[in-house]
Amino acid sequence: MFQLLIVAALLFGGYIFLIQTLFKRSKCKGNTSMAGKTIIITGGNSGIGKVTALLLARKGARVILACRNRHKAEAAINEIKQVTGSTDLLFMQLDLASLKSVRCFAETFLKTETRLDLLINNAGLVADGRTEDGFGIEFGVNHLGHFLLTHLLLDCLKDGDKGRVVTLSSMAYRWGHIDFEALTARRDLGTGSYSWQFFQAYCNSKLCNVLFTHELAKRLRGTNVTCYSVHPGIVRTELSRHVSLWQKVFIEPVSWLLFLDPVAGAQTTLHCALQEGIEPLTGRYFSCCAVQEVTPRARDDAMAKKLWEVSERLCGLSYGGKNDPSV
Ligand SMILES: NC(=O)c1ccc[n+]([C@@H]2O[C@H](COP(=O)([O-])OP(=O)(O)OC[C@H]3O[C@@H](n4cnc5c(N)ncnc54)[C@H](OP(=O)(O)O)[C@@H]3O)[C@@H](O)[C@H]2O)c1
Ligand SMILES: *[C@@H]1O[C@H](CO)[C@@H](O)[C@H](O)[C@H]1NC(C)=O
Repeated sequence: MFQLLIVAALLFGGYIFLIQTLFKRSKCKGNTSMAGKTIIITGGNSGIGKVTALLLARKGARVILACRNRHKAEAAINEIKQVTGSTDLLFMQLDLASLKSVRCFAETFLKTETRLDLLINNAGLVADGRTEDGFGIEFGVNHLGHFLLTHLLLDCLKDGDKGRVVTLSSMAYRWGHIDFEALTARRDLGTGSYSWQFFQAYCNSKLCNVLFTHELAKRLRGTNVTCYSVHPGIVRTELSRHVSLWQKVFIEPVSWLLFLDPVAGAQTTLHCALQEGIEPLTGRYFSCCAVQEVTPRARDDAMAKKLWEVSERLCGLSYGGKNDPSV
């Protein structure tokens, strides 16, 4: 009986410790009105993105859901319209696994919309495979597609008065590394189809998100546009849909006990989108609605610059493109 009490106390203590650290909750206090503002959110049909879209629609924003699947996006839009009463939401087709689709999206957006105040690079996946252009799917979708998207929308953001770019990264960036030689040779950061291998590739792509934001901030100096990267917390979403069955069996119970719900998971994105006064922190990484220090690798100026230049070449934005011998 006594032993049982000790075990129970230890489990409870462990639970309290975990919800104070890894699974800590926070609440966005930013209260900027979004009336008259236009935002784009990638992957706004599911998980963290859907809730973020909903909460921004509630604040009066015109919300564009940039998604690959029309059916899912329209279902999300109808749901958000019902809950918020907003009518100012629309779907625009975007498949981040295709650079052509990214260009097409940007063209349509710039042709049909008049302003852009906030770009949320939220879509992401943990999976195995290749993009239409032959890139590793996680590098291609989580980083490169968003890199090109941001590039194509930047002038429009600069035209506004305080544009922001918020990019969803993850604390998993800590385990990431970037092998530029492999990237050049194989168009991928990580190979192999075991789930630990594509989890490694995921971490690498999330490091790209942090470095991208670091470099973007430098390139935005002298403009009124700022940018932030975000760890949303560990959140109950569809992100783990591609992991194997036995891993799901392990993740599910932990998920229900500890993971944040998507509303809690959207708070740090909202903080970076809405909080006034964080502009001097442009380029930095946030979690729990607060700026955080990152590991030295994630603020390495040379690496961030190199990733930017390689990404430009891989998207065909600079000299060389496909025929550049260094690509
Ligand atoms: N959940 C977590 O614990 C956690 C932790 C750290 C960071 N994050 C980051 O948070 C972000 C949101 O993830 P989530 O957890 O909300 O996952 P989710 O529920 O799986 O949502 C991901 C979204 O990305 C979209 N997407 C995937 N591939 C795409 C493509 N090629 N083109 C356009 N959209 C695409 C998905 O669209 P479909 O529905 O059509 O597939 C979906 O809307 C991701 O960047 C993720 O890395 C999540
Ligand atoms: C930035 O915003 C300030 C205040 O709104 C404005 O005076 C300035 O012209 C803007 N700068 C640029 C580069 O747009």
